[in-house]
Amino acid sequence: MKKQIGNTLALYPLPILVIGTMADGKPTWTLCAHSGIMGHDHVMISLLNTHYINGFIRQNHRFSINLVNASMLPQCDHVGSVSGSNQDKSDIFAYQLDAYGMPLINDSKLAMSCEVEDVYVIHNFDHFIATVNATYTDPSILNENGKIDYEKLKPVLFEFPTYSYMESA
Ligand SMILES: Cc1cc2nc3c(=O)[nH]c(=O)nc-3n(C[C@H](O)[C@H](O)[C@H](O)COP(=O)(O)O)c2cc1C
Repeated sequence: MKKQIGNTLALYPLPILVIGTMADGKPTWTLCAHSGIMGHDHVMISLLNTHYINGFIRQNHRFSINLVNASMLPQCDHVGSVSGSNQDKSDIFAYQLDAYGMPLINDSKLAMSCEVEDVYVIHNFDHFIATVNATYTDPSILNENGKIDYEKLKPVLFEFPTYSYMESA
């Protein structure tokens, strides 16, 4: 017999993401664990509406999603604990702009450039629902058929109940 542990939200682990967008000509970055896939062609990120980045995502209608590998964790911790409202985070990651003007982290081996289609607001959280305009990978994480090999990518995962990072095997 299973033990009931209340109504714990238990849909983890999830990949940890660095969300980027441009803020007055400079990038700003925010760490996000709560994301999802909607249908077969939309993604969703869930961001507290007091975060610095939200207003710029609403303004640009665009953001980038950068998957995280273990070597990026110190910078990720920083962008996940300091707000752009208090400190400029534009120089935390080396980056390049893509054709849509979104900042892509050089050290991330998988990034997506996204376009906002809708914002669903619930309990102080903005849920940005977006399509993917372009996906960028480091060639080293592709298999012989040109598909993403997640065993090679080894994205860092996160689980909320004990607030821990987990490295994929
Ligand atoms: C591991 C981790 C996961 C996080 N996931 C989320 C998340 O899913 N949604 C969210 O709103 N904030 C999340 N945060 C908090 C924001 O990244 C953090 O408050 C950040 O400083 C906000 O930056 P900004 O104000 O510059 O946008 C997370 C933080 C950490 C450390």
